[in-house]
Amino acid sequence: MSDLRFEDRVAVITGAGGGLGRAYALLLAQRGARVVVNDLGGGVDGSGSGSSMADKVVQEIGDAGGEAVANYDTVATVEGGDAIIQTALDRFGRIDIVINNAGILRDKSFVKMSPKEVAAVLDVHLLGAFNVTRSAFALMKNANYGRLLFTTSAAGLFGNFGQANYAAAKMGLVGLSNVLAIEGEKYNIKSNVIAPVAKTRLSEHVLSSFGDALDIDYVKPLAAYLVSEECSLTHEIISVGGGRYARVFVGEAPGWNAPSGEIPSPEAVRENLDTVMNTSGFTIPRSATDEIMALVARLQQ
Ligand code: NAI
Repeated sequence: MSDLRFEDRVAVITGAGGGLGRAYALLLAQRGARVVVNDLGGGVDGSGSGSSMADKVVQEIGDAGGEAVANYDTVATVEGGDAIIQTALDRFGRIDIVINNAGILRDKSFVKMSPKEVAAVLDVHLLGAFNVTRSAFALMKNANYGRLLFTTSAAGLFGNFGQANYAAAKMGLVGLSNVLAIEGEKYNIKSNVIAPVAKTRLSEHVLSSFGDALDIDYVKPLAAYLVSEECSLTHEIISVGGGRYARVFVGEAPGWNAPSGEIPSPEAVRENLDTVMNTSGFTIPRSATDEIMALVARLQQ
């Protein structure tokens, strides 16, 4: 099989001035993509801004013989999202790939978390992905081609102490990707979610001594595959860290059917909890309609 290449493809990567985003940008550019390196250039908590982070990555790409342009807009506003996509159009005339990767943290236990800390994190991760993907998606529909990648987290998928804001935003991105996978299906737009674990400035305080096994470089091959023309997946979530690549999925157990025509009592639910909770024979619905159709079919049995 031939190598995965990105000639003639234009990729927007948000938060590409460091960490995972930088690794994606370098790899895609090395394989022929023209890249918009977006980064606000602030701190881990989202404070401050600057152009040097994005500029440095653009310089690295250029030095290696690739093509890239910097963009310093925030993903957290509608205007910023539009400006990021406009940079791709102004410089390269098209948009094929969007990797929503920009992120910040404002960790606090729930009772101590202020509305400001909730809004700041939702604005960057969840609304940021809406802002950047909104205008790109319309262009991708017109072009009948697109590859979208969103970045979730184990904190959202499975929960993590002190990250209510971040976890809610990260799980929201799964919902966004699922819908865009369905809406994009007939336009050859594929949308997937990556759940990385890697040692970066964002994670090093959590990962401590495990961090050394979780090199950033393990994540980038998966990201590159998922935004490649050959990608056969859509509507998926893949966890990646330290060289392990694994599907994460939302499945549904067969469940317990109350006797036909009977509204069960709370006690009847209690009595049947084992059957409600038993996951053997689970299914993975591909859409809400899929789940409803399966439910109706089961009730008719
Ligand atoms: P990082 O801090 O190195 O990268 C995030 C980048 O986003 C930074 O360069 C930052 O300047 C940029 N950024 C922040 N706010 C922005 C805004 N409003 N507009 C544009 N750019 C902005 O951290 P890392 O680890 O590379 O994070 C990348 C993504 O991966 C994030 O979405 C993060 O939540 C996610 N993630 C990372 C994990 C890890 O283990 N490193 C675990 C799970 C998820």
